[in-house]
Amino acid sequence: MTELQERAKQHLMLHFSDMTLDASDIPVLVRGDGCYIYDDAGNRLIDGLSGLYCTNLGHSNGEEIGAAAAAQMATLPFTTNWTTAHPPSIDLATKLAELAPEGFERTFFTSGGSESVESAYKMARQWHEANGEPERKKVIARRDAYHGTSLGALSFTGIPICRTAFEPPAVPTSHVSNTNAYRHPAGGDEAGFTQALLEEIEEVIAFERPETIAMIIMEPVQNAGGSITPPAGYWDGLRELCDKYGILLVSDEVICAFGRIGEWFGAQRLGSQPDMITFAKGLTGAHFSMGGLLMHDRVAEPFLTGKGDYLHGITFGGHPVGATIALKTIEIMEREGVLDNVRANEPKALELLHGLEDIPIVGDVRGMGHFFAIEVVKDQGTREALTEDEAGWLLKDVLSDKLYEDGMICRLDDRSEPIVQIAPPLVADVALFEEITAILRDGLTHAAEQLEVGKPS
Ligand SMILES: Cc1ncc(COP(=O)(O)O)c(C=O)c1O
Repeated sequence: MTELQERAKQHLMLHFSDMTLDASDIPVLVRGDGCYIYDDAGNRLIDGLSGLYCTNLGHSNGEEIGAAAAAQMATLPFTTNWTTAHPPSIDLATKLAELAPEGFERTFFTSGGSESVESAYKMARQWHEANGEPERKKVIARRDAYHGTSLGALSFTGIPICRTAFEPPAVPTSHVSNTNAYRHPAGGDEAGFTQALLEEIEEVIAFERPETIAMIIMEPVQNAGGSITPPAGYWDGLRELCDKYGILLVSDEVICAFGRIGEWFGAQRLGSQPDMITFAKGLTGAHFSMGGLLMHDRVAEPFLTGKGDYLHGITFGGHPVGATIALKTIEIMEREGVLDNVRANEPKALELLHGLEDIPIVGDVRGMGHFFAIEVVKDQGTREALTEDEAGWLLKDVLSDKLYEDGMICRLDDRSEPIVQIAPPLVADVALFEEITAILRDGLTHAAEQLEVGKPS
């Protein structure tokens, strides 16, 4: 155990972590370089999850971005977006209007993803109120989806282990099926699958009463549950349902925006037409904590014409240093052709990951852009799932250690179906995906052998 591990154990409350863990089991990461990070013992590790889906440029632009941040700090370290404005947030909002889908001209800035989701809900509530429908308060979200931990966003999160301790939820929310075709009874027939999913949502709308529903919130590609892509026609169907019943449609792009699935915004990749887009993480490539809410002109309208006020604000929303960093991050992304890189890598990365399907515990391989998951199963042929106990042991005690030893940090998640999540920085090349696949092959083969032997009692 190192001295840093010892103090981490003594003084930090880690997020979503079992604090009975041994200090020696706390990785202490000290340095980054390109798509790699280094721990305090000098081990080099692939940043296989881009931190938490956010170090999208990797770890080599700190000096350039830092210089821009330092210049802004010397000019004006802080002023607010509460009734005033400043050049960096004006420039960033202007740039986002250029990059966003047509009709999205306006941004409300936040400090992160949960705040962006909260901001969308508050905007939905006040939009309906301004339009004479104050009783629209409910939300529809999806099972297993993660939308954040603050109490409003947590209501939309569909992962029981995150929510149950804080029930009843602050916002009345119904959770519908996600789009995991591998696990849905209708998943084998894409058109039938889309229809079944949309029918389920329409039934929930009818049951809850359309006139009480404020918004539907969904990710373009759902992270929790494992890079779950939508079937063809799904988002068109959502748009139709929202139009039919007067509901606002929110695309939660906290992960999917800024290139994760190959376009500036997930809505552009899917051709979807949301009313609001939430974002955070990749906006600054994680060089600053910043997010925001883009709203379509039709959503902004009542607030601009005096029919309603948006009663919401966050001290650091639109922070001038954060906005400067976001602008520099976007400039680097444009200069380095990062979106082209993601789109070019996607087919090769998928081919490499599908190449692991000869390993008996590899169930489903899915995802797009630089956003992939492998669903781990007990029996490939029957799709039999691991028991909760087996999944916890195999992922946490066996595979996690093995992947770390072999030089990679990614995420192993057993909160719904057990999955291995792979989402390297958007500047990764095919050689890095080859390295990732080789490490996964070794780790998954070892895990399959251990499963064969059985969990030690
Ligand atoms: C889709 C989605 N929404 C919201 C959030 C919450 O973001 P934050 O952790 O920045 O509050 C996350 C975080 O991972 C997310 O993936």
